[in-house]
Amino acid sequence: MDKLFINNEWVKSSDGKVFATENPATGDVIAEVQQAGKVDIDKAVDAAKKAFKLGSTWRKMDASHRGHLINKLADLIERDRAYMASLETLDNGKPYLASYHGDLASVIKNLRYYAGWADKNHGMVLPADGKYFTYTRHEPVGVCGQIIPWNFPLLMAAWKLGPALAAGCTLVLKPAEQTPLTALYLAQLVKEAGFPPGVVNVVPGYGDAGAALVDHPDIDKVAFTGSTEVGKLIQRGAAGSVKRITLELGGKSPNIVLADADLPAAVETAHMALFYNMGQCCCAGSRTFVQDTIYDEFVALATARAKRRVLGDPFKPETEQGPQIDGEQQEKILQLIKSGQEQGARLMTGGGRTGDRGYYVQPTVFADVRDHMDIARTEIFGPVQQILKFSQLDEVLERANDTEYGLAAGVFTKDLDKANYLIQGLRAGTVWVNDYNVFANQVPFGGFKQSGLGRENGPYGIKNYTEVKAVVVKLTEKNS
Ligand SMILES: NC(=O)c1ccc[n+]([C@@H]2O[C@H](COP(=O)([O-])OP(=O)(O)OC[C@H]3O[C@@H](n4cnc5c(N)ncnc54)[C@H](O)[C@@H]3O)[C@@H](O)[C@H]2O)c1
Repeated sequence: MDKLFINNEWVKSSDGKVFATENPATGDVIAEVQQAGKVDIDKAVDAAKKAFKLGSTWRKMDASHRGHLINKLADLIERDRAYMASLETLDNGKPYLASYHGDLASVIKNLRYYAGWADKNHGMVLPADGKYFTYTRHEPVGVCGQIIPWNFPLLMAAWKLGPALAAGCTLVLKPAEQTPLTALYLAQLVKEAGFPPGVVNVVPGYGDAGAALVDHPDIDKVAFTGSTEVGKLIQRGAAGSVKRITLELGGKSPNIVLADADLPAAVETAHMALFYNMGQCCCAGSRTFVQDTIYDEFVALATARAKRRVLGDPFKPETEQGPQIDGEQQEKILQLIKSGQEQGARLMTGGGRTGDRGYYVQPTVFADVRDHMDIARTEIFGPVQQILKFSQLDEVLERANDTEYGLAAGVFTKDLDKANYLIQGLRAGTVWVNDYNVFANQVPFGGFKQSGLGRENGPYGIKNYTEVKAVVVKLTEKNS
C-alpha cells in the first residue's frame, strides 16, 4: 500500500524514488511512499486509456452496474471507516472525531449519491424540424486527471471519483504529497470492489506529477482542488489541448453579522466557520464583518471562545484543534500573524506556536482589522480570525465583494429583507444564512471569480464529466 496503484496492480516508481509522509502532530515519518514521476504518469494514463477503449469491460458495462460498483466501494469504506479515519488523522492531523463523523461520513454519502446517478445521467429526444429522429447522448468525457489537496484528502478524492465513475470515465488520481495514505487505501478498496483494471489509478507524487497529468495529450479533463496559484498554471497548461477543467481554488470569504442576529449563535458559528479543520478550509469565513453596535461585545465573546478552544493530540476525543499540515504552512501562518501586528490590527489572543513538537498554531483572534491589511486580503489557511467593523449594509456589501475571491459567504440576521439584499449582492458560489460550512452532496459547491471554475456535487457535478452528443438520424416518414 506504499506503492503506485496502476491497472489494479501495486508497482514501484520507475526511477526508484520515494518520499516520506509525516505525522504533523509529531513531525515523525509515518511511511515512505513510492513517488510518481512523468514515466509513471504516462503508464497510469495509458492504463486509464485502455480501460476507456471502445468495447472494454468498463465501456460495455451497464450503467446500473457502474452504480452498483460505486455503492460496493461505499460499503467497503463503511466497513473500514474507523481504520480510514485513523489513517486520515495520522497523516493530516485533523481530530479523529472530525475524520470519522465529518470526512468519512461525507465520503460514504457522496459515493452513494453518485452511485444513484450512474443510470440517470440521460439525454433527451428532441422535436427538431424536418424528417429527423434527433436525440442527445450523455457520454463520458473520457480519461480524467484528478489532483487532490491535503486539507480534506479523502473527501476531495471522493468528490472527484464519484461523478467521474458514475459518468463512465476512467481516471488517474494524484493525492497531495503531504497526505497520500488514505487515497492509497481507497485504491485497495477499488480493487476489492471489483472495478476493472485501469478504471481508477492512484499515483502519489509532487507538483511535477500533477503537471505531467495536465500536459498529457491523452487526458481529456482535469479536476483540481488547491491553491489559486497552481489553478492558474493548470488553466494555462490545459489550454494547449483545450482540456476540460474544473478548478476549486482559494477564498477569503466574508461572514457578515448584523446587529439583530442571535449573538451567541453567531459567535459560535463564526468561530467554527474559521477554526474548523485548523482553519485549513478553502471556504473559511476568514473576514468576520460585525455591525458597529454589537462589535465590542462580539469581539469579547469571540476572543473568549477562541481561548476555550482545546488544542492537542488529534486522537483525544476532547481535542478541537490539531496541528497544521506541515512546517511550511505553520511558518506561513506565523508570518501573516506578524504582519497583522505590524500593520496595526489588535491581537486579542493567540499569535504563536504551541509546544515543541508538531506544527501547532494557537487559536488567534485579531480585532480592528482594516480591509487593506495582509491578514484581510491573503488566504491564511490557518486558525486566525479577523474581525472587521461595519455600519451600513451597502458599505459591507461593497467591502465583502472587494476581493479577487468569491467562494462562500455567511450572513447572520433575523431580518428577511436584509438577508435577501445581501444574498443577491454577494459575489460568491455559496451563501449561508444563519449558519456556515453546511455541505450536502445534492448541493453544488464552487467559486465565483478567482475561487474557481465549475461546480462540484449535485447534478452540476456530473455535468463536468459528461460530453453531450447530438444525434440526427434521417427518417423517411415523420408523424407527430
Ligand atoms: N482550495 C483548497 O481547498 C485548498 C487546498 C489546499 C491548499 N490550498 C491553498 O494552497 C496553499 C498552498 O497549499 P499547497 O502548496 O499544498 O497547494 P497546491 O495548490 O500547491 O497543491 C495542491 C495539489 O496540486 C498539486 N500541484 C502542485 N503544483 C502543481 C502543478 N504545477 N501542476 C499540477 N499540480 C500541482 C500538488 O501536488 C497537490 O496535489 C494553501 O496555503 C492554501 O491557501 C487551498
